Amino acid sequence: MGFTLDKVVPWGRSYVEYVDMFDLTAEDLERRILGCGDGPAAFNAELTKRGGTAVSVDPIYTFDVEQIRCRITETYDTVMAQMRENQGDYVWNAIASVEELGCIRMRAMNTFLSDYGAGKGSGRYVAGSLPSLPFERLSFDLVLSSHFLFLYSIHLSAEFHLQALREMLRVAREVRVFPVLSLDGAASPHLTYVTTALADDGCTVELRRVSYEFQRGGNEMLVITQG
Ligand SMILES: C[S@@+](CC[C@H](N)C(=O)[O-])C[C@H]1O[C@@H](n2cnc3c(N)ncnc32)[C@H](O)[C@@H]1O
Repeated sequence: MGFTLDKVVPWGRSYVEYVDMFDLTAEDLERRILGCGDGPAAFNAELTKRGGTAVSVDPIYTFDVEQIRCRITETYDTVMAQMRENQGDYVWNAIASVEELGCIRMRAMNTFLSDYGAGKGSGRYVAGSLPSLPFERLSFDLVLSSHFLFLYSIHLSAEFHLQALREMLRVAREVRVFPVLSLDGAASPHLTYVTTALADDGCTVELRRVSYEFQRGGNEMLVITQG
């Protein structure tokens, strides 16, 4: 059976969150950036508007704008209820409350939805699934993965993570992943396996502290650079 939308809970972060999670400098923002698993995040739309170069790849881009909009509407209340229930797992500084979070996420997802048709037409939103990417070797300068790898460590094996990261390193020399925690807030059980294997491949692997922390304790990104 193919990928179906009824298993997906679309929840997209803002441009500013991406900049903070990945510590993106003005220089980084001029690079050719690929976002893996960007879903309904606003990063691609906003960076494009600012003159940057972004492509996003995600299995949900098989669907059209109305299908994605419907799924966001269907799932929004459930996500908000879960956030209220688990408030203690998050740091309420930059985002002060669950209500504010809901507004920020909806604004980001509406930015995505407004851009999606045009962006899909021009090849900025590409349907695809890790661990394989439909791009030529070194098509990008930097690959980002926000809230997909490591976060779903219970569902995705260590081998999946390694294959996905090697594939990301095929299409760009540098990969950044945020966070390195799994859904339960603990460090991903796959982190050591993956970082050891990539270091053995000759990559430089670094855990770098960033200014962004929303999931409690989630303030580090993994930076992998080809040797
Ligand atoms: C929690 S969302 C994160 C969205 C966005 N990166 C953000 O931080 O706001 C996880 C995303 O991963 C996507 N995804 C699921 N399986 C994937 C795969 N095999 N390869 C790439 N993306 C995948 C989902 O469709 C979803 O959009």
